[in-house]
Amino acid sequence: MTAQTIASSADDETWVELGLIDGFAEGCVKQAQLPNGFPIAVYRVGGKFYVTSDRCTHGAASLSDEGELNGHVIECAWHYGTFDIRTGAALTLPCRATLPTFTTRIEGDQLLVNAKPNRRHRHQQGE
Ligand code: FES
Repeated sequence: MTAQTIASSADDETWVELGLIDGFAEGCVKQAQLPNGFPIAVYRVGGKFYVTSDRCTHGAASLSDEGELNGHVIECAWHYGTFDIRTGAALTLPCRATLPTFTTRIEGDQLLVNAKPNRRHRHQQGE
């Protein structure tokens, strides 16, 4: 699924449409792409939506394809590292670097994501 840009008013205000909110099942993760091709993982947990990079920060594993979601924690299938999808924080080794996260919003029945990663999650934890 490739997202469509619907508004771009400033550097930090590029919102892209991910699809109908009903297309995202509760407790599931779905892969999507930003217009620039960057792979993202879209989660619906507790009726709320979260978006992270789809690539594990330890390797190149796809979290949406191979990860296992338990509550707000996604476990990478390759080496079982885990992340909190709300903050991107790496919770379990061998993952150390924070997973980039993106802000979501709902407009009507559509789920939107800000194409710019959240600044606070660009920080990389020390090795
Ligand atoms: S690639 Fe994800 S834990 Fe190693």
